[in-house]
Amino acid sequence: MAKPPLSMKPTGWFQVAWSAEISPGEVRRMKYFDREMIGWRTASGEAVVMDAYCEHLGAHLGYGGQVEGEVIQCPFHGWQWNKEGRNVCIPYESRPNRGRRIRSYPVTERNESIYIWHDIDERPPYFEAPDVFASFADDSSADDYYPQMTLFREALELHPQYVLENGVDFAHFKYVHKTPIVPVFTRHDFAQPVSFVDFTITFEGDESQSIDDVKSGVEAINGGLGIAVTKSWGMVDNRTISAVTPVDERTSDVRFMVYIGRPRTAVKDPARAEAKARQFGEEVVRQFTQDIHIWSHQRYSDPPALAGSEYEGFTAIRKWATQFYPDGPGGTAAARTP
Ligand code: FES
Ligand SMILES: [Fe+2]
Repeated sequence: MAKPPLSMKPTGWFQVAWSAEISPGEVRRMKYFDREMIGWRTASGEAVVMDAYCEHLGAHLGYGGQVEGEVIQCPFHGWQWNKEGRNVCIPYESRPNRGRRIRSYPVTERNESIYIWHDIDERPPYFEAPDVFASFADDSSADDYYPQMTLFREALELHPQYVLENGVDFAHFKYVHKTPIVPVFTRHDFAQPVSFVDFTITFEGDESQSIDDVKSGVEAINGGLGIAVTKSWGMVDNRTISAVTPVDERTSDVRFMVYIGRPRTAVKDPARAEAKARQFGEEVVRQFTQDIHIWSHQRYSDPPALAGSEYEGFTAIRKWATQFYPDGPGGTAAARTP
């Protein structure tokens, strides 16, 4: 294990909770990017994420803060703050303090997840968080899939970029995931903050087959470093979301979600079909834990000893990643790689 040499304060969308974890009126404490934060939901249902400390005398709103309709009320002196972090009421004064603001983060809620936009310079979002259905523009929706299955691993010593680098790392599939043959990448598009990686892969058969005969694969969309969504084809229909969010200077939380497709036609035994889907979903989750096992113990290699065939993919992804490090040191580390 080693402290990641990349910045733990990258720019982008990052998951901080699942939607179901914050119901209307609820206040939840969290720590991300080395800051104490709270997540809460207004009475009308909007999710809000902001820094935890009241700008008055510094009470932690996660200990006794109360949601009152569309605002949160501090437990110390009753000052009320809206979802933008603006003070809207001092109960013992005729007007609020318009100057002070609690830092509040842009929120996107989709795929049963709450994402925040993090940028140390507080620039507004300049790309969208990927959606595991809509981003593939194939008319799919959650209705076509069984309920989301999830995995949560807390405070692991790893960096979001490790997870993304899997997207160019063709050789690991055979060794970590025990695929019979090494997959082949058919698309690497790192031109924008949202990048695309497609590959042909099979989990079936033995090592005598040729990759040219394989009729299955995965398409991945990476929305910055924090969230990656995938869609499979030619195998059991599945979609996944992996989301890695820095907690402090050493660790990150990892969330993984998988959806398994429902049968397209009527089946004789729906309960059996669902049980089989669940079994397959568990297998997808298990494969992801194999990756986590490597990531959480690895040391980021910079510059890495790359094989000739790995050079192009790793160079492209590491160069792409530098744009998300506005604070320099991490970006410089990434930029040093060949
Ligand atoms: S510290 Fe929050 S109202 Fe005084
Ligand atoms: Fe992997």
